Amino acid sequence: MEKTISIAIDGPAAAGKSTVAKKVAELLGFTYIDTGAMYRAVTNAVIKKGLNPQDERQSETVLPGLSIDLLPGGQVICNGEDVTRIIREPLVSGNVSYIASYKNVRLALVDMQRALAKSRSVVMDGRDIGTYVLPDADVKIFQIASVETRAVRRYEENIAKGIPTSLKDVEEDVRKRDYIDSHRAFAPLKPASDSVLIDTSFMSVDEAVEAVLRVVKEKTGVAPKC
Ligand code: DC
Repeated sequence: MEKTISIAIDGPAAAGKSTVAKKVAELLGFTYIDTGAMYRAVTNAVIKKGLNPQDERQSETVLPGLSIDLLPGGQVICNGEDVTRIIREPLVSGNVSYIASYKNVRLALVDMQRALAKSRSVVMDGRDIGTYVLPDADVKIFQIASVETRAVRRYEENIAKGIPTSLKDVEEDVRKRDYIDSHRAFAPLKPASDSVLIDTSFMSVDEAVEAVLRVVKEKTGVAPKC
């Protein structure tokens, strides 16, 4: 079997990881895996069942038999239902960090993520990919941007998707998630010691993609075909 390549892109909320990861995957012909969408899908499943996402015991009850499929077109299917849009709504965004801090939720999703990366080349974005999910990833990027830049980007994304939010609320949500994501006990957000830091505060999407591709070329010799 041909050797597969894993590219891990970690970083805080709304740092533009998914946009960059998707483009890098497309250019290299790799599979893109959005692990944040998986935590969001679990959060939505908890809320949908009328359970309290801030209660660990209650939340864990959705795990047995849970199925999450990430389709090539970007759709997220959870237990047979298309949840692509609802998982970006403020109710899910405001609760996902609690769900992502529960050990059993993380263990279940990490198993799925490792299985997805086993037999194909992937670009996987998240918070703990380089440190925990794929510690042997060929390339590890830690992508950051200032809180203000990230809040404006997320706000504009929401407006474009028709999700009503205020810039102030988005900025508060970004700060709150930064805090919870980097202070949780299990697999917190932090750069892997062998990761390359890319600050996209003053970069366009194309510049950020170029920066990642340069690191990929350097570490693996792989580059886009055209
Ligand atoms: O990237 P995102 O905003 O869609 O992520 C949603 C939440 O899931 C975020 O608060 C952090 C958490 N997450 C995580 O803990 N580990 C991952 N690998 C991916 C996301």
